[in-house]
Amino acid sequence: MSETPASGPPGAPAPPALDRILRDPGFCRHSTGRVAVVEWEAGAGWSEPRVQPYDTLPMDPATLGLHYGQAVFEGMKAFRGADGSVSLFRAADHGRRLGRSAARLAMAEMPVDLFTWACAELVAADERWVPGGYGQSLYVRPLLIATEAEMGLRPSHSYRCVFLAYPADPCFGSGFRPLAVTAATETVRAVRGGTGEAKCAGNYAASLLTRTEAQAAGYDEALWLDGVERRWVEELSTMNVFFVWHGEDGPRLTTPPCDGTIVRGITRDSLLTLAGGLGLPAVEEPTAIDAVRDGIRSGALAEMFACGTAGVVVAVGRLGTAGEDLVVGDGREGPVTARLRGALLDVQHARTPDTHGWLLPVTGPAAAADEGEGRRA
Ligand code: COI
Repeated sequence: MSETPASGPPGAPAPPALDRILRDPGFCRHSTGRVAVVEWEAGAGWSEPRVQPYDTLPMDPATLGLHYGQAVFEGMKAFRGADGSVSLFRAADHGRRLGRSAARLAMAEMPVDLFTWACAELVAADERWVPGGYGQSLYVRPLLIATEAEMGLRPSHSYRCVFLAYPADPCFGSGFRPLAVTAATETVRAVRGGTGEAKCAGNYAASLLTRTEAQAAGYDEALWLDGVERRWVEELSTMNVFFVWHGEDGPRLTTPPCDGTIVRGITRDSLLTLAGGLGLPAVEEPTAIDAVRDGIRSGALAEMFACGTAGVVVAVGRLGTAGEDLVVGDGREGPVTARLRGALLDVQHARTPDTHGWLLPVTGPAAAADEGEGRRA
């Protein structure tokens, strides 16, 4: 591992500005000025991680990744604990998912240990950039892209993985305002056998037209339905979804199953696990948009929420479907949504014991002299 001190992109903040940034980081507005880089070449295999100043990527315009879309990414977070220490959340699971996404696009699969090593080196180098507010984090965005210049359609013989880091407020800096979503009618995001489960750039590109139209119509997000019957709820463009139903014995949670067409959300998986521990039954279950509509009308659907690494857990307060606009519950965040978000953030900030082994410690407790106001969770 080699490390070069960060000089930062043009306009990188002087140290006094860092406190200001950490108080109000927004979502990925400020790069830390450093990246980690890992490369793969056919015949040579993977390089060791290098932490180096942030810079543009030198790319031949004939690069395979640009033309044929061999580009996959992750979104993950490092959190500050109450004692000032910093840990990555479910780093190995993010590494495994990047490997599965890469495999689906016939790209080189990075060993999980190498992935976590690169993440940990970058976060350790950027330790001062990890904000301490509850829900705040250092967002790490690993991007793996084919780098060989070649016009023939075939898998690249070289790849670069660049790990970017940004201090971040939770939920895209929106303050957990409940979302308004509308079911997509004209387009679909994925079909079984396609790339829907891969976290690949193309899936996000495919969602943009409909998402932009939804936003122009006053919604935050498009809600994707399955590509065959146009009936089964899948996910949003940036987050998975959960439903909270009134059950005979209390609330019951459901979320659409991972059948190859939705991203296997790590937040989604964490919530399924945490819900069980809170005594909230939670299952993967196909859910038709008609059942959601009927549930909202009858009151059987108590809450709906979205979840993802960047978004965390955020209520859905309004749903547009079949020409109607329906308010979920009273349109505000419900108690189950709030409870699950708290349970997740408490684990991420090490306020509750990490019984699932989800935290990868990167730095130890902060020295007393470094513990400035506002830097602690
Ligand atoms: C994340 O939640 O980290 C994602 O990768 C979604 C992205 C579109 C912001």
